[in-house]
Amino acid sequence: MQPVYLITGGAGNLACQLTFPLAERGIRSLLFDVAAAPVAPVAAGCQYVRGDLTVAENLQAVFRDHAPRVVIHFASLLSAASEADRRTAWDVNVTAAFALLELAVAHGVERFFFPSSLAAYGGQLPDLISDDDPQWPDGLYGVTKTVVERLGVYYFRSHGLDFRALRLPIVVSRYAHMGAASSYASRAFMETAKQGSFVFQVRPESRPALIYARDVIGAVLGLLEAPTEQLQRRVYNIQALSPTAAELAAVIAARYPGASLTFQTDPQIADLIDSWPRRFDDSAARRDWNWRSAYDLDAMASDFVTSLQD
Ligand SMILES: NC(=O)c1ccc[n+]([C@@H]2O[C@H](COP(=O)([O-])OP(=O)(O)OC[C@H]3O[C@@H](n4cnc5c(N)ncnc54)[C@H](O)[C@@H]3O)[C@@H](O)[C@H]2O)c1
Repeated sequence: MQPVYLITGGAGNLACQLTFPLAERGIRSLLFDVAAAPVAPVAAGCQYVRGDLTVAENLQAVFRDHAPRVVIHFASLLSAASEADRRTAWDVNVTAAFALLELAVAHGVERFFFPSSLAAYGGQLPDLISDDDPQWPDGLYGVTKTVVERLGVYYFRSHGLDFRALRLPIVVSRYAHMGAASSYASRAFMETAKQGSFVFQVRPESRPALIYARDVIGAVLGLLEAPTEQLQRRVYNIQALSPTAAELAAVIAARYPGASLTFQTDPQIADLIDSWPRRFDDSAARRDWNWRSAYDLDAMASDFVTSLQD
């Protein structure tokens, strides 16, 4: 029988993109999301189940009816939405994650993937962040990510759940949530393509860690498929890109002659972005499951621009 992977947040940016390589592997994605429909195309053969993660019966029904072999838990309120509605952020990002982990253990799920975030770090940060640097996130979103990392490791150690997590840099993607402050890099591509101009609200020298969506999909699969005996940790940092916003503007401008990419720094947005990690030490990911970023700044820019032409 075809294995079923439950992907929560199944209507979102990363979930939709992950369905294609999963389908190539003969895996059927069961996309679970509260949204009416996916934000992007999904692979043929996916099943879409509309439901709210915070409603226990919805989740129980999914496990009862579909017996997923693997859970990929992408559903989350992102950073701005979490600050705007703290109660819902806690319910979705923490309480529902706890319920899902419990169900995964009860139903003998083989593997559980969780995307943590660079926002799980905060305070005074060194230029290069290591896997085990202290995590004192500034925002509620980062707090919820840190909580679920710890919960997952608890379920691994105490209940044998094969929990695996990545702390992702800011994802650059044509399907990124455009309302988020962190989507500035994605928006720079999209708006320049559409209207020939973009105004950055970050500083020209702002350089939070970024990663291209295709690299994220590669990393998720790389970690998910790594043999258990090779993994010396359960949560890994990965590094891809750390361009300044000025460098990002330059590679976009080079691909849209005549476009106007300018800066009008909003201190509140810029301070938030500048409070996040700039570079990760990903030597453990490289060692344990051969993580390598396939997209440097130029490769990402070329691929993004081509995908927008398509
Ligand atoms: N995009 C990034 O820059 C980034 C960076 C680091 C980590 N992550 C993490 O990766 C994951 C996927 O990110 P994305 O960019 O695809 O986000 P996204 O916002 O596109 O997708 C999240 C999905 O979760 C769904 N959701 C929210 N509440 C729900 C509920 N109660 N029940 C069911 N579904 C619910 C939303 O409808 C949405 O479709 C998230 O956990 C995010 O925190 C993303």
